[in-house]
Amino acid sequence: MPRKIIIDTDPGQDDAVAILLALASPENVDVLGIVAVAGNVGLKQNAMNALKVVELSGRTDVPVFAGCDRPLKRQLVTAEHVHGVTGLDGPDLPDPGIMLQDQHGVDFIIDTLERAAPGEITLCALGPLTNIATVFSRAPHLTARVEEIVLMGGAYFEVGNITPAAEFNFYVDPHAAEIVFRSGVPITQMPLDVTHQVLTNHERLGRISAIGNSSGMAVSQMLGFSERFDLEKYQWEGAPLHDPCVIAWMIEPGIFSGRQINVEIETQSELTMGMSVADYWRVTDRPRNVNYIRNANSDQFYNLLIERLTRLA
Ligand code: BDR
Ligand code: CA
Repeated sequence: MPRKIIIDTDPGQDDAVAILLALASPENVDVLGIVAVAGNVGLKQNAMNALKVVELSGRTDVPVFAGCDRPLKRQLVTAEHVHGVTGLDGPDLPDPGIMLQDQHGVDFIIDTLERAAPGEITLCALGPLTNIATVFSRAPHLTARVEEIVLMGGAYFEVGNITPAAEFNFYVDPHAAEIVFRSGVPITQMPLDVTHQVLTNHERLGRISAIGNSSGMAVSQMLGFSERFDLEKYQWEGAPLHDPCVIAWMIEPGIFSGRQINVEIETQSELTMGMSVADYWRVTDRPRNVNYIRNANSDQFYNLLIERLTRLA
């Protein structure tokens, strides 16, 4: 049986690849809806990008919602310097024929959880955690309906990418991340430590371009755009593909390995705001609230991604 998921996202080239991977994998994940959040760019543009990606996939049966337009307590920080002014620079995707749902994304998540059995729904979070924290604050009883939150964010060994201490998604809304990490819901965390292991390279990009369908073409243009920033920054051979790790975990968890540890989020110090403080070496007896993913087999990851993208229209 496919696992029922809601994708919470700020697309984002890597978010877009994650969404395509999910929509190409109906035997593994039943995508109940996609909810945009403010992050890489503003909410309106992120929601538009989500619509374009759903349209590209051909899965226009999947509803798209707009959620929160700003972090819980802090000013929105965006990342046009990484993703371009549209947030999804690279391909020239047509205006979508499908429309945004009228319902607010937070209300959609609440309604879906209200109707679900305990542990029925998994939340896949690819951006700042504002929407999910808002759901848990407004309806704390609904945490019991969530099977797991699988999220991209944070780092321990790789430390930060937007500040020296913090990863982007947690930095944008550290207070939301704190609520989620203290919610008691099982969490699988894909930090930079693992996403920095699934790098593009010439051969992998060549295989994606050779897929021959419109999704393959668009993904190769997206990655061609977004990798420039990372290549210059890290001087690596290829660029990391962060958010698809979340969906790859849902499909083929054997690609990854990790351990159950305590993770807390810094919300006090400006210097280290949004840092995920991971007790990787288990030096405290704080509760082990997170399945912290540390390693990935990148060949298996790209084989899965390319095989699934090939299936799309
Ligand atoms: C995360 O930040 C965003 O820019 C990416 O989409 C990813 O979710 C990586 O730090
Ligand atoms: Ca993202």
